[in-house]
Amino acid sequence: MNYPARVKLVDVGPRDGLQNEQQQVPASVKIELVHRLQSAGLKEIEVTSFVSPKWVPQMADNAQVMAGIARQPGVRYSVLTPNLQGLQAALASRPDEIVVFGAASEAFSQKNINCSIAQSIERFAPVVEAARAAGIYVRGAMSCTVGCPYEGDIAPQRVDYLAGLMKSIGVQHVGVADTIGVGTPLKVQRALEATLKHYNVNDVSGHFHDTYGQALANTLVSLQMGVWQFDTSVAGLGGCPYAKGATGNVATEDVVFMLHGMGIDTGIDLDRLVDAGVFISEFLGRKPGSRAATALLNKRHH
Ligand code: HMG
Ligand code: MG
Repeated sequence: MNYPARVKLVDVGPRDGLQNEQQQVPASVKIELVHRLQSAGLKEIEVTSFVSPKWVPQMADNAQVMAGIARQPGVRYSVLTPNLQGLQAALASRPDEIVVFGAASEAFSQKNINCSIAQSIERFAPVVEAARAAGIYVRGAMSCTVGCPYEGDIAPQRVDYLAGLMKSIGVQHVGVADTIGVGTPLKVQRALEATLKHYNVNDVSGHFHDTYGQALANTLVSLQMGVWQFDTSVAGLGGCPYAKGATGNVATEDVVFMLHGMGIDTGIDLDRLVDAGVFISEFLGRKPGSRAATALLNKRHH
């Protein structure tokens, strides 16, 4: 089996993680989390989203958070922008990358962004064009590529369709998301294969929520297909407000432990990453949702 020598992880904890918290997380804590992630060696951080504060009040401090970050050279900061209004607001924050987010499921598209898949693509097209004209890289998140909380199983043809649409409007990279974590390796493989009809493997990433404990297995099967970029979330933070019951992304700590154990480089210092996870988990009043972090913390205390 051929594995990549290096893997790029995007920590989406500050966005995907904290968008889902019931309690108010102050901007200063979000900023500190970003600082701790970059000092642990993360080179890609998904910081926040420029969405409607009525829909996702947790991200209403987007501009404040972006303004408060002491940017580290070599680190890229991305934000979600669902429409032109979001992009306009985001531009002032000078993100390195923006993310448009669509879904392979019609019902999820309606619940999450209040429009059909076709309408979402119409909305994204000018966002992609304006971002690229401003020299900002454009990523597309594709939700519900294996299962949907409203429609159940999602056929690979739906992923094929969405990936083709994303490509047609100039989205440069797509993330294959298992929003509710129901994917198992062969289903994830089929969703990736559908995506790879439209995108080069270097322009595809995996975004796996760990609700059913399948995310590491899904990561491994993706690696075997040559995928080398993944969204992960420190301390396993997160979920989606429009996917009730879904837990966070696979914990960055767990993925780093697996990759380092396989001799794959990430550039991340696992101990410092564990500390970043402890920082945010203590603020939230719980233990890090990472098996690797738990084990390493137990070892430290003995
Ligand atoms: P809408 O209500 O259809 O939008 O929402 P609208 O254009 O009719 O505007 C309605 C109001 O929202 C107006 O304000 C607009 O100004 C405002 P009002 O006149 O009523 O005072 N508005 C905005 N405000 C701030 N920023 C904006 C913006 N746009 C409109 N960008 C909309 C459509 C897309 C805005 C809404 O549905 C929305 O914000 N949805 C966001 C949902 C979301 O953030 N979900 C979580 C992220 S996706 C995710 O987690 C999945 C992912 O991790 C991958 C995976 O795991 O699957 C990425
Ligand atoms: Mg997600």
